[in-house]
Amino acid sequence: MNGRLWTMDDLDAIAALERDCFSDPWSRRMLVESFLSERFFGVVLEEGGAVVGYGGLSVAADEGEIELVAVNEMYRRCGRGKLIMDDLVSLACERGVKRLYLEVRVSNAPAQMLYLRCGFRGLYARSRYYPDGEDALVMVREFD
Ligand SMILES: CC(C)(COP(=O)(O)OP(=O)(O)OC[C@H]1O[C@@H](n2cnc3c(N)ncnc32)[C@H](O)[C@@H]1OP(=O)(O)O)[C@@H](O)C(=O)NCCC(=O)NCCS
Repeated sequence: MNGRLWTMDDLDAIAALERDCFSDPWSRRMLVESFLSERFFGVVLEEGGAVVGYGGLSVAADEGEIELVAVNEMYRRCGRGKLIMDDLVSLACERGVKRLYLEVRVSNAPAQMLYLRCGFRGLYARSRYYPDGEDALVMVREFD
């Protein structure tokens, strides 16, 4: 792995990054609930002992969904998002995932470029998926 799995001690830092990176962040409580789920796997990347990026994945049978990916703004465009995605894909494959899905805002070109770079393809749009009314693009990567 490029990063390491979350521990409970990471959740404050992840919640703070969520607030910095998203208009509709996951709350600390949502992060805790995911952390406690046996189907959820979270990854963090550190720099000098501080969490600078993270990702999260849920798995159900042979399907998975990437639920969280973000990198501290000051650390972007240096490959960290790709490292996190590579870890999430590896974790999914180790658990027998055959189809890995994610949703991304249609306006979020950086994330879409990252996901295309990681082998995902666009499937369809979900109309008014986000609380502010923006559409989501559903993307998938399939494994043999
Ligand atoms: C999306 C995000 C995680 C990318 O993290 P990152 O560390 O900057 O990504 P990387 O440096 O690993 O980039 C990998 C590839 O993604 C693409 N990419 C990333 N940011 C991009 C940008 N701003 N514009 C165009 N392409 C971009 C490029 O193909 C890039 O490869 P390259 O640098 O060799 O051209 C980061 O922008 C982020 O945290 N955004 C806010 C949170 C968010 O929107 N998360 C996704 C929710 S669905």
